Amino acid sequence: MIRITALMDNMIAENKSLFAEHGLSLLIEKDTHKLLFDCGQGAHTLANAHRLGRDLSSLDAVILSHNHYDHAAGFRDYAEQIDGCRLLYTGPHFFEPKYAFDGLKYTDLSSGFDEAFLNAHNIRHVAVEGIQEIFDGICLVSSFPRRCDFETIPGRFVKLTAQGFLPDDFSDEVCLVLDLGDRLCVLVGCSHPGILNMIRSIHDRFQKPVSAVFGGTHLVEADPERIGKTVRELKEMGLQIAGFSHCSGSLAEGTAHEDKDLQSCHLGAGDCIYL
Ligand SMILES: [Fe+2]
Repeated sequence: MIRITALMDNMIAENKSLFAEHGLSLLIEKDTHKLLFDCGQGAHTLANAHRLGRDLSSLDAVILSHNHYDHAAGFRDYAEQIDGCRLLYTGPHFFEPKYAFDGLKYTDLSSGFDEAFLNAHNIRHVAVEGIQEIFDGICLVSSFPRRCDFETIPGRFVKLTAQGFLPDDFSDEVCLVLDLGDRLCVLVGCSHPGILNMIRSIHDRFQKPVSAVFGGTHLVEADPERIGKTVRELKEMGLQIAGFSHCSGSLAEGTAHEDKDLQSCHLGAGDCIYL
């Protein structure tokens, strides 16, 4: 049995004792393993775990889907307040500072910690390039080819590199794949490289249908045509169950919900999925 608990989302579910914020955190419990995929913005994720009776005092690993504050800044609070994890996985180039640029000002969107912070807290950092199996049947995947021409990254997202400010290609984005034998379940943070680019790459690399997707699909800015194509292509790759979070958007969630071939829901803070 695998249990996935939404510790943080933009919305709370029916348990009104929890906090909601613009962000994502999913706790994965599989066999004896306990992993945190994203940490939300800060300490509210820890408070939600406490109220849900989820013990975060000893995690096998934390995975940060990308270096945006709404997914990664909570890791600093976790390390400072609980300090129960010695292993952090990210994608490559995670520590390149991220900004939103409006043509005049730059707004820092980064996690707010650096490698020195990890060293000070005795946390080992592994940057995953390609596919890495981190525990039996649990893989991390990064480095997604961009094949889908309608999955574009908004121009306001930039990153600061040795060459100065560049458009953010979100090369740091990493997702988690649960191998369920004849099919896959994928957890995504914000899907900035494009949900189809990511799922297509996983489908092709593992040569298995992707039957379930949970997390942020970043379709919040997508028009109905793109959403229709996305749902259609995801179904072609085996999608049966979708648990939308965070940046998925009501239009995409509504479209999936009306699709008779799909089971879908919104995963609010406090919601669980059992596989
Ligand atoms: Fe996000």
